[in-house]
Parts: sequence; C-alpha cells; structure tokens
Amino acid sequence: MGSDIENKQINRQLFGDDFEWGVSTAAPQIEGSLDTDGRGRSVWDVFTQLKGKVLNGDTAHTACDFYNRYRDDIALIKQLHIPNFRFSIAWPRVMPNGTGEVNQTGIDYYNSIIDFCLECGIEPWVTIYHWDLPQELELKGGWTNRDIVSWFSDYVKVCIANFGDRVKNWMVMNEPAVFTGAGYFLGVHAPGRTGIKNFLPAVHHAVLCMATGGRLLRQALPNANIGTTFSCSDIAPYSTNPRDVSAANRADIFFNRIFIEAVSGMGYPDDIKVLKRIKNYIKPGDEQLMSFDFDFIGIQNYTREIIKASFLVPYIGAKIVKAENRGVPLTAMKWEVYPPAIYNVIKKFSAYPFVKKIIITENGSAFPDEVKDGEVHDPLRLAYLQQHMAQVLKAKQEGGKVAGYFIWTLTDNFEWAEGYHPRFGIIHVDFKTQQRIIKGSGKWYGEFLKG
Ligand code: NOJ
Repeated sequence: MGSDIENKQINRQLFGDDFEWGVSTAAPQIEGSLDTDGRGRSVWDVFTQLKGKVLNGDTAHTACDFYNRYRDDIALIKQLHIPNFRFSIAWPRVMPNGTGEVNQTGIDYYNSIIDFCLECGIEPWVTIYHWDLPQELELKGGWTNRDIVSWFSDYVKVCIANFGDRVKNWMVMNEPAVFTGAGYFLGVHAPGRTGIKNFLPAVHHAVLCMATGGRLLRQALPNANIGTTFSCSDIAPYSTNPRDVSAANRADIFFNRIFIEAVSGMGYPDDIKVLKRIKNYIKPGDEQLMSFDFDFIGIQNYTREIIKASFLVPYIGAKIVKAENRGVPLTAMKWEVYPPAIYNVIKKFSAYPFVKKIIITENGSAFPDEVKDGEVHDPLRLAYLQQHMAQVLKAKQEGGKVAGYFIWTLTDNFEWAEGYHPRFGIIHVDFKTQQRIIKGSGKWYGEFLKG
C-alpha cells in the first residue's frame, strides 16, 4: 500500500530549500484579554455568552493568554526552528468599533509581535481577517451589509499603514466558506445567523472584500506576497450511483469552489439553483471588483467528506455520511484521518490555471493528550503530521503547485464552538496554570526543521 514516498522517512531537504515551513494561529483563539487596553467587542465575545452555543460554555476570555505571553510563545517557535509564524490581527483590537477610531495600544501590540518575530529571525505571516468581526459592525448587519466593503477597506488600510513596512506575507481572509456558512447560514458560529437570505449577501460581500483587500495591499506594497486562505475538503461520493455523484459535485461547490472561483474571475458556479439568487446582491461593475490575482492561495485541509444524495437537505440535496459511522480512524473533532485528502486537494487546486502557488496554511489534528511525568507523548498527532507531509511531498513531486506547509497550531487553543476540548497544538497548554509543554510532535517538527 502507498507509494515509495509514503513509506520513506521524510526529511526537509526533499521539499527543497525554498519550501516555506511554518505554524499557524489566530488572534481570537489564543490572545484572551478581550476587555484590555481599549479592545472593542467581537461577534465571538457576544456569541460565546449565548447559552448552548459553545461546548461546556467555554469562552475565549483568557484563551492561551497570548496577549501577555507572546514573547514566551514566539521564543518557543524559535526554539523549534520554525521559520514562519502565521497569526491574525484582531480587527476590534485595532479598530474597536470596526470603523473610525484607531486604538493605538492595539497597533503597538501587533508592532511588538512583529518586531519580536523579526528579532528572533521568524518571518511574520499576517491574516487580516480571522472571523473576529467587531460587534458594532454586526449590529449594522455585519457581512450582510454591503457597507462592509468600505469598513473592511479602511481596516486593511490601517494594517498596511502600520505594519506594511515589515510584514511581507499577507493573507486577506481566513476560510470565507466557514465564516459565511457556519456563521450566516447554519448559525453554529458567530454571529449565529441562519438562512439563505443572510448567507448569500455575506458570500458576495466577502468575495468583494477579499479582492478589494488584495488590490489595496498590491497598490501600497507592490513587493508583498499576497494570498488568502480557503477551507478545502476532499469530497467523494458515497457510491457510484449518479445521484450520489451529483450530490458530491454539489457539495464540492459549497465546500471548495464558490470562493476561489468567484475571486479569480470565473464568477459564481451556477450549477446550483439557489446560487443563482446571488445575482440579487451583485451590482453593476462588481465583476471587476470581485476578482484579484493572488500571489498564493492558502489551502487548509484536515479531512475528506463522503457525500450522499438526500432530498431532505434544502438547497443542496446532499448530506455528509458521518465519519463516525464509517468505521474509520477519527480525530477528537470526529474527522476522518485520511492523508490522501491533502494530496487530492493540492492536485485539484493546482489544476486551476490562475493558481500560481499553493501554501498549505493549515493542517493538523486534535487528539486527547495526557501529561505524564511532565511530558506529552502524542504518537497519533505525530503520525498524522508525518503522513500528511508525505502526501504534500508526493503532490509536489508530481508537479502540484504547493510551496509551503504550516501546522495548525502552535499551542492548544480555543476551538470556536468546540471550546477547549479539541487540542490541536504541538505545544500543550494547561489552561489553569498556562504552563506550556512541547509535545512529542512539536519536538519532532523542531528536529525535522533543524535537519
Ligand atoms: C480552520 C480555522 O481557520 C481555524 O481557526 C480552526 O481552528 C481550524 N480550522 C481547526 O478547526
């Protein structure tokens, strides 16, 4: 079973000298200090207060206390020889109301992080928007309000003006399919809105913002490396029955295709009836505004989904056959461990002619960890990472456009609606004491990068 590469020990040299290695995080999942130094409220601050929305009633109030401990955590990144650190800027920390007033203390904070990374020889990779919409903007309609294009533009300009002299690598947005799908259609993420009437405008405005953000960065920073990141699942039909095959194709549109195709000038896929309704939100001239030529596409892959036709599911007529009912190995998120998924998505996205370069901006796994004699031995996470990296290498050697790999994530953190229960970190966090322990997988990554 498997190719030579999968069975061979992987080493850094096989990927080439210019392959980018890193680790990824996001402000709302690590920082804590939500009410500190002038930060405004985000939609997640409000959502986590609602009963039953987040597992165990967890909130991000303290999270990993990265706000106060960033120097220690960046020192750990250095200790592990990780050359690139992806983190996000919290919009409500730099613009408490989302628009207008700029909070200098917030700006100073991100400047300290950027400066300390550079001092440690670590390249900062900045995500401009990782889901923490200022609550004041949500009160005005959030992503459903077209004014968000101007609010977002102002925010991007603030980031450029304050950080653009030192940050070379930018990601405009993180996983728009998830924050629009989970936050504005299913209601399981902040702000908890539901229905197609919220979802479709949110999608279109997110596309406009992504492209606008890219253009603003390009104009101001012509030498910057500009990308944006997409959630991608490998999709397979449950059977060869044509109904399942076409259900899988429809799911692929929602999971993988809408955003990348829209932002790359292909327009919205119109093979699904309900998506045709998006034209209600498109204004003359939008076609130009919607597209931008990104230097790289960030792909974030964790698993695959098996899809079956179902008349019961509105709009899409397809449902996921849960991994827990398929007798396959699972992570703590109940996601199937299926390493070829990352190979398949790299191949799929490499096939788009407009995709110049792919960076895996997230891949990783949550498993329950145990601290024993001050150590965390995590063979399942280690195997997951090694097997996925081997698949990335295989895709690269076969001509896939992949040029980097970032592990999700540095420390165990606040996993949105799942709270603190899933531990994705290569560094363990005791959330009572904030003590960090580098897990076996983290030590291995450090050795791998050093080698
Ligand atoms: C994607 C998201 O960008 C990140 O915030 C999340 O924690 C991971 N996936 C794991 O679910």
